[in-house]
Amino acid sequence: MKKDTFYVTTPIYYVNSKPHLGTVYSTVAADIIARFKRMQGKDVFFLTGSDEHGEKVALTAKKHNKEPKEWVDEIVATYKLLWDRLNISYNKFIRTTDKEHEKTVAKILEILKEKNLIYEGSYTGLYCLECERFYTKKELVDNKCPFHQKDLVNLKEKCYFLKLSAFQKPLIKLIEEGEFRIEPEKRKNEILGFLTTERLEDVAISREKVKWGVQIPWDREQTVYVWVDALINYLSGLGWKGDPKKTSKYWPPDCQIIGKDILRFHTLLWGAIILSLEIPLPKLIFVHGFLTLEGQKMSKSLGNVIEPDKLIDIFGSDATRYLLFSFFSFGEDCDISLSKFYDEYNAKLANGYGNLISRTLTLALGKGEIKLKKVDKKFEKKVSACWRDYDASMEGLKFNQALEVFQALIAFCNEYIDKKKPWELLKKDKEGFEEVIYNLTEAIRHLNWMILPFMPEKANQIFELLGLGKTEYEKSQELAKEWAEVKVYKISEKIERIFPRL
Ligand code: ME8
Ligand code: MG
Repeated sequence: MKKDTFYVTTPIYYVNSKPHLGTVYSTVAADIIARFKRMQGKDVFFLTGSDEHGEKVALTAKKHNKEPKEWVDEIVATYKLLWDRLNISYNKFIRTTDKEHEKTVAKILEILKEKNLIYEGSYTGLYCLECERFYTKKELVDNKCPFHQKDLVNLKEKCYFLKLSAFQKPLIKLIEEGEFRIEPEKRKNEILGFLTTERLEDVAISREKVKWGVQIPWDREQTVYVWVDALINYLSGLGWKGDPKKTSKYWPPDCQIIGKDILRFHTLLWGAIILSLEIPLPKLIFVHGFLTLEGQKMSKSLGNVIEPDKLIDIFGSDATRYLLFSFFSFGEDCDISLSKFYDEYNAKLANGYGNLISRTLTLALGKGEIKLKKVDKKFEKKVSACWRDYDASMEGLKFNQALEVFQALIAFCNEYIDKKKPWELLKKDKEGFEEVIYNLTEAIRHLNWMILPFMPEKANQIFELLGLGKTEYEKSQELAKEWAEVKVYKISEKIERIFPRL
Protein backbone atom coordinates (compact mmCIF):
# COMPACT_ATOMS: atom_id res chain seq x y z
CA MET A 1 0.00 0.00 0.00
CA LYS A 2 1.25 3.47 -0.82
CA LYS A 3 1.89 5.43 2.34
CA ASP A 4 0.55 8.91 2.90
CA THR A 5 3.29 11.48 2.70
CA PHE A 6 4.01 14.21 5.19
CA TYR A 7 6.38 17.08 4.50
CA VAL A 8 7.61 19.17 7.43
CA THR A 9 10.18 21.99 7.36
CA THR A 10 12.12 24.24 9.73
CA PRO A 11 13.47 27.64 8.76
CA ILE A 12 16.99 27.38 7.40
CA TYR A 13 19.34 29.08 9.79
CA TYR A 14 21.69 31.97 9.23
CA VAL A 15 25.20 30.73 9.64
CA ASN A 16 26.65 34.00 10.84
CA SER A 17 27.02 32.43 14.26
CA LYS A 18 26.56 29.13 16.06
CA PRO A 19 23.12 27.74 16.89
CA HIS A 20 21.34 29.07 19.96
CA LEU A 21 18.31 27.95 21.89
CA GLY A 22 15.91 29.81 19.61
CA THR A 23 17.09 27.86 16.58
CA VAL A 24 16.93 24.63 18.58
CA TYR A 25 13.30 25.39 19.40
CA SER A 26 12.07 25.40 15.76
CA THR A 27 14.11 22.33 14.92
CA VAL A 28 13.12 20.15 17.87
CA ALA A 29 9.47 21.06 17.27
CA ALA A 30 9.71 19.92 13.66
CA ASP A 31 11.46 16.74 14.77
CA ILE A 32 8.68 15.97 17.25
CA ILE A 33 6.14 16.36 14.47
CA ALA A 34 8.20 14.23 12.07
CA ARG A 35 8.51 11.43 14.61
CA PHE A 36 4.83 11.60 15.53
CA LYS A 37 3.87 11.32 11.86
CA ARG A 38 6.26 8.42 11.31
CA MET A 39 4.61 6.72 14.27
CA GLN A 40 1.34 7.01 12.35
CA GLY A 41 2.97 5.14 9.52
CA LYS A 42 3.39 8.15 7.22
CA ASP A 43 6.13 8.57 4.66
CA VAL A 44 7.73 11.66 6.21
CA PHE A 45 10.13 14.08 4.61
CA PHE A 46 11.71 16.37 7.17
CA LEU A 47 13.83 19.20 5.78
CA THR A 48 16.17 21.52 7.61
CA GLY A 49 19.29 23.38 6.57
CA SER A 50 21.35 26.53 6.43
CA ASP A 51 20.89 29.98 4.94
CA GLU A 52 24.40 30.84 3.83
CA HIS A 53 24.39 33.74 1.39
CA GLY A 54 24.05 37.46 1.81
CA GLU A 55 25.74 40.50 3.21
CA LYS A 56 25.41 39.59 6.86
CA VAL A 57 27.19 36.25 6.48
CA ALA A 58 29.86 37.73 4.17
CA LEU A 59 30.64 40.48 6.68
CA THR A 60 30.81 38.04 9.57
CA ALA A 61 33.24 35.84 7.63
CA LYS A 62 35.39 38.86 6.87
CA LYS A 63 35.44 39.83 10.53
CA HIS A 64 36.87 36.40 11.25
CA ASN A 65 39.42 36.74 8.45
CA LYS A 66 37.86 33.93 6.49
CA GLU A 67 36.49 33.40 3.03
CA PRO A 68 32.69 33.13 3.16
CA LYS A 69 32.68 29.49 2.10
CA GLU A 70 35.31 28.56 4.67
CA TRP A 71 33.28 30.32 7.34
CA VAL A 72 29.93 28.76 6.46
CA ASP A 73 31.44 25.29 6.28
CA GLU A 74 32.69 25.71 9.82
CA ILE A 75 29.37 26.95 11.19
CA VAL A 76 27.32 24.36 9.32
CA ALA A 77 29.46 21.69 10.98
CA THR A 78 28.49 23.04 14.43
CA TYR A 79 24.80 22.86 13.47
CA LYS A 80 25.11 19.30 12.26
CA LEU A 81 26.91 18.24 15.41
CA LEU A 82 24.21 19.76 17.56
CA TRP A 83 21.42 18.17 15.50
CA ASP A 84 23.14 14.81 15.95
CA ARG A 85 23.38 15.37 19.66
CA LEU A 86 19.69 16.20 19.79
CA ASN A 87 18.71 13.24 17.58
CA ILE A 88 17.15 15.43 14.92
CA SER A 89 15.89 12.95 12.35
CA TYR A 90 15.98 15.19 9.28
CA ASN A 91 15.82 13.51 5.88
CA LYS A 92 17.85 16.24 4.26
CA PHE A 93 20.02 19.12 5.33
CA ILE A 94 19.87 21.68 2.55
CA ARG A 95 22.55 24.32 2.15
CA THR A 96 21.89 27.34 0.00
CA THR A 97 25.45 27.02 -1.32
CA ASP A 98 24.60 23.58 -2.76
CA LYS A 99 25.01 23.81 -6.53
CA GLU A 100 21.64 22.14 -7.14
CA HIS A 101 19.90 24.69 -4.95
CA GLU A 102 21.61 27.58 -6.74
CA LYS A 103 20.47 26.22 -10.10
CA THR A 104 16.89 25.95 -8.88
CA VAL A 105 16.96 29.54 -7.62
CA ALA A 106 18.19 30.77 -10.99
CA LYS A 107 15.56 28.67 -12.78
CA ILE A 108 12.73 30.04 -10.66
CA LEU A 109 13.83 33.62 -11.24
CA GLU A 110 13.75 32.99 -14.96
CA ILE A 111 10.24 31.60 -14.70
CA LEU A 112 9.10 34.69 -12.80
CA LYS A 113 10.75 36.96 -15.34
CA GLU A 114 9.08 35.18 -18.23
CA LYS A 115 5.78 35.75 -16.51
CA ASN A 116 6.52 39.46 -16.37
CA LEU A 117 6.57 39.50 -12.60
CA ILE A 118 10.07 40.97 -12.40
CA TYR A 119 11.17 44.43 -13.57
CA GLU A 120 14.24 46.62 -13.28
CA GLY A 121 14.36 49.62 -10.99
CA SER A 122 16.39 51.14 -8.22
CA TYR A 123 15.96 51.21 -4.51
CA THR A 124 16.61 53.94 -2.00
CA GLY A 125 15.89 53.05 1.55
CA LEU A 126 16.87 51.93 4.98
CA TYR A 127 18.22 48.43 5.30
CA CYS A 128 18.65 46.32 8.44
CA LEU A 129 21.54 43.95 8.05
CA GLU A 130 20.38 41.68 10.84
CA CYS A 131 16.95 41.17 9.26
CA GLU A 132 18.31 41.41 5.71
CA ARG A 133 15.44 43.63 4.69
CA PHE A 134 14.38 47.18 3.94
CA TYR A 135 12.26 49.15 6.36
CA THR A 136 10.06 52.16 5.79
CA LYS A 137 10.46 55.12 8.17
CA LYS A 138 7.06 54.34 9.63
CA GLU A 139 8.12 50.88 10.73
CA LEU A 140 11.11 52.08 12.76
CA VAL A 141 11.13 52.42 16.52
CA ASP A 142 13.25 55.38 17.72
CA ASN A 143 14.76 55.42 14.24
CA LYS A 144 16.07 51.89 14.75
CA CYS A 145 15.13 48.40 13.61
CA PRO A 146 12.14 47.30 15.71
CA PHE A 147 13.60 43.81 16.09
CA HIS A 148 17.26 44.50 16.70
CA GLN A 149 17.27 48.05 18.04
CA LYS A 150 20.14 48.77 15.68
CA ASP A 151 20.82 51.60 13.25
CA LEU A 152 19.92 51.00 9.64
CA VAL A 153 22.03 51.64 6.55
CA ASN A 154 20.96 53.94 3.76
CA LEU A 155 21.02 52.00 0.52
CA LYS A 156 20.64 53.31 -3.00
CA GLU A 157 21.24 50.91 -5.84
CA LYS A 158 19.97 49.41 -9.02
CA CYS A 159 17.99 46.24 -8.51
CA TYR A 160 15.18 44.05 -9.77
CA PHE A 161 11.74 44.09 -8.26
CA LEU A 162 9.15 41.38 -7.85
CA LYS A 163 5.56 42.55 -8.35
CA LEU A 164 4.49 41.63 -4.86
CA SER A 165 1.71 44.22 -5.06
CA ALA A 166 -0.10 42.05 -7.59
CA PHE A 167 -0.58 39.40 -4.92
CA GLN A 168 -2.20 41.50 -2.24
CA LYS A 169 -5.78 40.62 -3.16
CA PRO A 170 -5.24 36.92 -3.87
CA LEU A 171 -3.30 36.52 -0.61
CA ILE A 172 -6.02 38.19 1.45
CA LYS A 173 -8.61 35.90 -0.08
CA LEU A 174 -6.57 32.72 0.31
CA ILE A 175 -5.66 33.48 3.91
CA GLU A 176 -9.17 34.56 4.87
CA GLU A 177 -10.70 31.45 3.35
CA GLY A 178 -8.20 29.20 5.06
CA GLU A 179 -6.82 27.97 1.77
CA PHE A 180 -3.46 29.32 2.92
CA ARG A 181 -3.61 28.32 6.57
CA ILE A 182 -1.68 30.27 9.17
CA GLU A 183 -1.76 29.31 12.82
CA PRO A 184 -2.21 30.22 15.64
CA GLU A 185 -5.27 32.34 14.88
CA LYS A 186 -3.66 35.51 16.22
CA ARG A 187 -0.87 35.25 13.64
CA LYS A 188 -3.39 34.83 10.87
CA ASN A 189 -5.14 37.95 12.15
CA GLU A 190 -1.86 39.79 12.41
CA ILE A 191 -0.99 39.18 8.78
CA LEU A 192 -4.52 39.88 7.58
CA GLY A 193 -4.50 43.09 9.61
CA PHE A 194 -1.38 44.13 7.78
CA LEU A 195 -2.63 43.08 4.36
CA THR A 196 -5.96 44.83 4.68
CA THR A 197 -4.65 48.15 6.01
CA GLU A 198 -1.33 48.69 4.21
CA ARG A 199 -0.46 48.72 0.57
CA LEU A 200 1.74 45.79 -0.32
CA GLU A 201 4.83 47.26 -2.03
CA ASP A 202 6.82 45.52 -4.73
CA VAL A 203 9.95 44.02 -3.26
CA ALA A 204 13.58 44.33 -4.32
CA ILE A 205 14.79 40.81 -5.05
CA SER A 206 18.37 41.50 -6.00
CA ARG A 207 21.38 43.34 -4.62
CA GLU A 208 24.15 44.99 -6.58
CA LYS A 209 26.89 45.36 -4.01
CA VAL A 210 26.53 41.95 -2.43
CA LYS A 211 28.78 39.46 -4.17
CA TRP A 212 28.16 36.49 -1.86
CA GLY A 213 25.00 35.10 -3.41
CA VAL A 214 23.37 33.47 -6.41
CA GLN A 215 23.85 35.47 -9.59
CA ILE A 216 20.79 36.82 -11.34
CA PRO A 217 20.85 34.68 -14.50
CA TRP A 218 20.37 37.58 -16.91
CA ASP A 219 22.48 40.19 -15.07
CA ARG A 220 25.77 39.08 -13.59
CA GLU A 221 26.25 42.32 -11.69
CA GLN A 222 23.40 41.37 -9.39
CA THR A 223 22.86 38.64 -6.81
CA VAL A 224 19.54 37.25 -5.63
CA TYR A 225 18.16 38.77 -2.45
CA VAL A 226 18.88 36.31 0.39
CA TRP A 227 15.27 35.88 1.40
CA VAL A 228 14.21 34.79 -2.08
CA ASP A 229 17.23 32.48 -2.20
CA ALA A 230 16.41 31.07 1.24
CA LEU A 231 12.68 30.50 0.75
CA ILE A 232 13.33 28.47 -2.37
CA ASN A 233 15.11 25.88 -0.20
CA TYR A 234 11.72 24.38 0.60
CA LEU A 235 11.44 23.49 -3.09
CA SER A 236 15.02 22.68 -3.98
CA GLY A 237 15.38 20.61 -0.79
CA LEU A 238 13.01 18.09 -2.36
CA GLY A 239 15.27 17.83 -5.37
CA TRP A 240 12.94 20.04 -7.39
CA LYS A 241 14.57 21.43 -10.52
CA GLY A 242 12.10 24.20 -11.28
CA ASP A 243 9.56 22.54 -13.53
CA PRO A 244 6.11 23.48 -12.16
CA LYS A 245 4.67 20.36 -13.74
CA LYS A 246 7.08 18.09 -11.94
CA THR A 247 7.08 18.87 -8.26
CA SER A 248 7.97 16.16 -5.77
CA LYS A 249 5.57 13.59 -4.32
CA TYR A 250 6.00 15.41 -1.01
CA TRP A 251 4.76 18.75 -2.33
CA PRO A 252 3.02 20.79 -0.86
CA PRO A 253 4.44 21.05 2.68
CA ASP A 254 2.04 19.75 5.32
CA CYS A 255 3.56 21.85 8.04
CA GLN A 256 6.11 24.65 7.98
CA ILE A 257 7.41 25.70 11.37
CA ILE A 258 8.64 29.28 11.71
CA GLY A 259 9.22 31.85 14.45
CA LYS A 260 7.07 34.95 14.73
CA ASP A 261 9.78 37.28 13.40
CA ILE A 262 9.69 35.70 9.95
CA LEU A 263 5.91 35.54 9.50
CA ARG A 264 5.74 38.17 6.75
CA PHE A 265 8.40 36.51 4.64
CA HIS A 266 6.62 33.17 4.91
CA THR A 267 3.23 34.51 3.97
CA LEU A 268 3.76 37.44 1.61
CA LEU A 269 7.00 36.70 -0.22
CA TRP A 270 6.74 32.91 0.02
CA GLY A 271 3.04 32.99 -0.85
CA ALA A 272 3.78 35.18 -3.89
CA ILE A 273 6.57 32.91 -5.12
CA ILE A 274 4.31 29.87 -4.92
CA LEU A 275 1.38 31.60 -6.57
CA SER A 276 3.68 32.78 -9.35
CA LEU A 277 4.83 29.24 -9.97
CA GLU A 278 1.21 28.10 -9.94
CA ILE A 279 1.88 25.18 -7.64
CA PRO A 280 -0.15 24.23 -4.52
CA LEU A 281 0.28 26.31 -1.36
CA PRO A 282 1.63 24.84 1.89
CA LYS A 283 -1.14 23.31 4.00
CA LEU A 284 -0.02 25.02 7.17
CA ILE A 285 2.39 27.70 8.31
CA PHE A 286 2.72 27.34 12.07
CA VAL A 287 4.21 30.31 13.88
CA HIS A 288 5.82 29.79 17.26
CA GLY A 289 6.67 32.37 19.87
CA PHE A 290 9.99 33.49 21.23
CA LEU A 291 11.91 32.12 24.15
CA THR A 292 13.00 34.75 26.60
CA LEU A 293 15.54 34.21 29.33
CA GLU A 294 14.47 35.40 32.75
CA GLY A 295 12.27 38.04 31.19
CA GLN A 296 14.78 39.21 28.58
CA LYS A 297 14.61 38.70 24.85
CA MET A 298 17.19 36.12 23.85
CA SER A 299 18.91 36.41 20.50
CA LYS A 300 22.23 36.03 18.78
CA SER A 301 22.44 39.72 18.03
CA LEU A 302 21.68 40.72 21.62
CA GLY A 303 24.20 38.22 22.96
CA ASN A 304 22.21 36.83 25.93
CA VAL A 305 21.74 33.18 25.17
CA ILE A 306 21.78 29.81 26.90
CA GLU A 307 24.09 27.57 24.95
CA PRO A 308 22.12 24.52 23.82
CA ASP A 309 25.15 22.35 24.57
CA LYS A 310 25.10 23.52 28.16
CA LEU A 311 21.49 22.40 28.61
CA ILE A 312 22.26 19.04 27.03
CA ASP A 313 25.28 18.63 29.33
CA ILE A 314 23.06 19.16 32.35
CA PHE A 315 19.83 17.39 31.40
CA GLY A 316 20.80 15.16 28.51
CA SER A 317 19.43 15.41 25.01
CA ASP A 318 16.00 13.84 25.58
CA ALA A 319 15.15 15.77 28.72
CA THR A 320 16.22 19.01 27.01
CA ARG A 321 13.76 18.25 24.21
CA TYR A 322 11.05 17.50 26.74
CA LEU A 323 11.68 20.61 28.83
CA LEU A 324 11.52 22.97 25.87
CA PHE A 325 7.93 21.94 25.24
CA SER A 326 6.46 20.79 28.51
CA PHE A 327 5.40 23.93 30.29
CA PHE A 328 4.53 26.37 27.54
CA SER A 329 2.09 26.51 24.76
CA PHE A 330 4.00 26.22 21.50
CA GLY A 331 2.42 29.23 19.80
CA GLU A 332 3.12 31.64 22.68
CA ASP A 333 6.23 33.37 23.90
CA CYS A 334 7.74 31.61 26.84
CA ASP A 335 10.08 32.71 29.53
CA ILE A 336 12.62 30.12 30.57
CA SER A 337 15.29 29.86 33.24
CA LEU A 338 17.65 27.16 34.40
CA SER A 339 15.88 26.91 37.75
CA LYS A 340 12.50 26.31 36.06
CA PHE A 341 14.15 23.56 34.03
CA TYR A 342 15.61 21.92 37.15
CA ASP A 343 12.24 22.01 38.93
CA GLU A 344 10.33 20.62 35.98
CA TYR A 345 12.92 17.92 35.35
CA ASN A 346 12.90 16.70 38.93
CA ALA A 347 9.13 16.83 39.28
CA LYS A 348 8.08 15.34 35.95
CA LEU A 349 10.93 13.14 34.84
CA ALA A 350 12.97 12.07 37.88
CA ASN A 351 10.05 11.78 40.32
CA GLY A 352 7.36 11.28 37.70
CA TYR A 353 8.10 8.94 34.84
CA GLY A 354 11.50 7.77 36.12
CA ASN A 355 10.13 6.80 39.50
CA LEU A 356 7.15 4.94 38.05
CA ILE A 357 9.46 2.91 35.84
CA SER A 358 11.90 2.02 38.59
CA ARG A 359 9.17 1.16 41.12
CA THR A 360 7.44 -1.10 38.64
CA LEU A 361 10.39 -2.77 37.03
CA THR A 362 12.25 -3.31 40.30
CA LEU A 363 9.24 -5.27 41.57
CA ALA A 364 8.99 -7.22 38.32
CA LEU A 365 12.68 -8.04 38.11
CA GLY A 366 13.48 -11.73 38.45
CA LYS A 367 9.83 -12.78 38.86
CA GLY A 368 9.78 -14.73 35.58
CA GLU A 369 7.03 -14.24 33.04
CA ILE A 370 4.32 -11.78 33.99
CA LYS A 371 1.25 -12.69 31.97
CA LEU A 372 -2.03 -11.04 31.13
CA LYS A 373 -4.77 -12.91 33.03
CA LYS A 374 -7.81 -10.76 32.42
CA VAL A 375 -8.20 -7.38 30.77
CA ASP A 376 -8.49 -4.60 33.32
CA LYS A 377 -11.39 -2.48 32.07
CA LYS A 378 -10.39 0.58 34.07
CA PHE A 379 -6.95 0.66 32.54
CA GLU A 380 -8.31 -0.09 29.10
CA LYS A 381 -10.72 2.82 29.33
CA LYS A 382 -8.20 5.22 30.79
CA VAL A 383 -5.55 4.41 28.22
CA SER A 384 -7.88 4.77 25.27
CA ALA A 385 -9.13 8.14 26.57
CA CYS A 386 -5.52 9.24 26.99
CA TRP A 387 -4.70 8.27 23.41
CA ARG A 388 -7.66 10.25 22.13
CA ASP A 389 -6.56 13.38 23.99
CA TYR A 390 -2.94 12.87 23.14
CA ASP A 391 -3.59 12.48 19.41
CA ALA A 392 -5.84 15.51 19.32
CA SER A 393 -3.23 17.60 21.10
CA MET A 394 -0.42 16.43 18.86
CA GLU A 395 -2.41 17.04 15.68
CA GLY A 396 -3.00 20.61 16.86
CA LEU A 397 0.69 21.01 17.77
CA LYS A 398 -0.33 21.52 21.38
CA PHE A 399 2.75 19.77 22.70
CA ASN A 400 2.37 20.87 26.30
CA GLN A 401 -1.16 19.46 26.33
CA ALA A 402 0.06 16.15 24.93
CA LEU A 403 2.63 16.05 27.72
CA GLU A 404 -0.08 16.79 30.27
CA VAL A 405 -1.95 13.73 29.06
CA PHE A 406 1.25 11.73 29.46
CA GLN A 407 1.64 13.06 33.00
CA ALA A 408 -1.99 12.33 33.83
CA LEU A 409 -1.51 8.69 32.91
CA ILE A 410 1.58 8.55 35.12
CA ALA A 411 -0.44 9.98 38.00
CA PHE A 412 -3.15 7.37 37.37
CA CYS A 413 -0.52 4.61 37.60
CA ASN A 414 0.99 6.03 40.77
CA GLU A 415 -2.39 6.17 42.47
CA TYR A 416 -2.98 2.59 41.43
CA ILE A 417 0.31 1.50 43.00
CA ASP A 418 -0.46 3.32 46.23
CA LYS A 419 -3.87 1.71 46.41
CA LYS A 420 -2.85 -1.82 45.48
CA LYS A 421 0.43 -1.92 47.43
CA PRO A 422 2.06 -4.62 45.26
CA TRP A 423 4.93 -5.06 47.72
CA GLU A 424 2.37 -6.38 50.23
CA LEU A 425 0.62 -8.51 47.61
CA LEU A 426 3.94 -10.11 46.82
CA LYS A 427 3.92 -11.73 50.26
CA LYS A 428 0.37 -13.00 50.32
CA ASP A 429 -1.29 -12.94 46.86
CA LYS A 430 0.94 -13.92 43.98
CA GLU A 431 -1.87 -13.76 41.40
CA GLY A 432 -2.89 -10.31 42.56
CA PHE A 433 0.72 -9.17 42.48
CA GLU A 434 1.15 -10.35 38.90
CA GLU A 435 -2.01 -8.63 37.77
CA VAL A 436 -0.88 -5.32 39.21
CA ILE A 437 2.59 -5.58 37.71
CA TYR A 438 1.19 -6.60 34.34
CA ASN A 439 -1.10 -3.57 34.25
CA LEU A 440 1.67 -1.20 35.22
CA THR A 441 4.12 -2.62 32.70
CA GLU A 442 1.57 -2.47 29.92
CA ALA A 443 0.75 1.12 30.93
CA ILE A 444 4.44 2.00 30.71
CA ARG A 445 4.51 0.60 27.19
CA HIS A 446 1.75 3.04 26.25
CA LEU A 447 3.39 5.93 28.06
CA ASN A 448 6.54 5.14 26.21
CA TRP A 449 4.83 5.41 22.86
CA MET A 450 3.41 8.78 23.83
CA ILE A 451 6.79 10.10 24.84
CA LEU A 452 8.67 8.68 21.87
CA PRO A 453 8.46 11.78 19.61
CA PHE A 454 9.82 13.88 22.47
CA MET A 455 12.40 11.51 23.92
CA PRO A 456 13.41 9.01 21.27
CA GLU A 457 16.54 7.73 23.01
CA LYS A 458 14.94 7.13 26.39
CA ALA A 459 11.92 5.54 24.74
CA ASN A 460 14.16 3.10 22.96
CA GLN A 461 16.02 2.34 26.16
CA ILE A 462 12.76 1.76 28.06
CA PHE A 463 11.33 -0.51 25.36
CA GLU A 464 14.48 -2.56 25.76
CA LEU A 465 14.06 -2.70 29.54
CA LEU A 466 10.53 -3.98 28.96
CA GLY A 467 12.06 -6.76 26.89
CA LEU A 468 10.45 -5.40 23.71
CA GLY A 469 13.36 -3.69 22.03
CA LYS A 470 13.47 -3.01 18.33
CA THR A 471 10.42 -5.00 17.28
CA GLU A 472 8.14 -2.83 19.37
CA TYR A 473 9.94 0.28 18.29
CA GLU A 474 9.25 -0.37 14.65
CA LYS A 475 5.52 -0.94 15.03
CA SER A 476 3.03 1.61 13.88
CA GLN A 477 1.02 3.52 16.43
CA GLU A 478 -2.25 1.87 15.43
CA LEU A 479 -1.00 -1.42 16.83
CA ALA A 480 0.66 0.21 19.77
CA LYS A 481 -2.55 1.81 21.01
CA GLU A 482 -4.40 -1.41 21.86
CA TRP A 483 -4.55 -2.17 25.55
CA ALA A 484 -3.16 -5.62 26.42
CA GLU A 485 -1.64 -5.96 23.00
CA VAL A 486 1.57 -7.32 24.53
CA LYS A 487 0.53 -10.27 26.69
CA VAL A 488 3.69 -11.34 28.44
CA TYR A 489 6.48 -9.35 30.03
CA LYS A 490 9.71 -10.62 31.42
CA ILE A 491 12.02 -8.16 33.10
CA SER A 492 15.50 -9.52 33.32
CA GLU A 493 17.70 -6.46 33.33
CA LYS A 494 18.58 -4.53 36.43
CA ILE A 495 17.19 -1.03 36.22
CA GLU A 496 19.50 1.95 36.21
CA ARG A 497 17.95 5.26 37.08
CA ILE A 498 16.46 6.43 33.79
CA PHE A 499 16.21 10.03 34.97
CA PRO A 500 18.62 10.60 37.87
CA ARG A 501 17.58 13.37 40.25
CA LEU A 502 19.49 16.59 39.69
O1 ME8 B 1 15.47 33.85 10.27
N1 ME8 B 1 13.09 32.04 20.50
O2 ME8 B 1 17.29 32.49 10.42
P1 ME8 B 1 17.68 32.69 11.97
C1 ME8 B 1 12.50 31.23 19.60
N2 ME8 B 1 17.61 32.46 7.84
N3 ME8 B 1 12.86 31.20 18.31
C2 ME8 B 1 13.83 32.02 17.90
C3 ME8 B 1 14.50 32.89 18.78
C4 ME8 B 1 14.09 32.88 20.14
N4 ME8 B 1 14.64 33.64 21.06
N5 ME8 B 1 15.42 33.57 18.07
C5 ME8 B 1 15.34 33.13 16.80
C6 ME8 B 1 16.33 33.17 9.76
N6 ME8 B 1 14.39 32.20 16.69
C7 ME8 B 1 16.34 32.92 8.26
C8 ME8 B 1 15.23 31.95 7.92
S1 ME8 B 1 13.83 30.46 6.21
C9 ME8 B 1 13.60 30.42 4.56
C10 ME8 B 1 15.10 31.62 6.47
C11 ME8 B 1 13.95 31.48 15.49
O3 ME8 B 1 18.84 31.80 12.15
C12 ME8 B 1 13.43 32.40 14.41
O4 ME8 B 1 12.11 32.79 14.67
O5 ME8 B 1 17.81 34.12 12.29
C13 ME8 B 1 13.51 31.51 13.21
O6 ME8 B 1 12.36 30.67 13.12
C14 ME8 B 1 14.72 30.64 13.51
O7 ME8 B 1 15.04 30.83 14.88
C15 ME8 B 1 15.91 30.93 12.63
O8 ME8 B 1 16.42 32.18 12.79
MG1 MG C 1 16.64 35.90 12.97
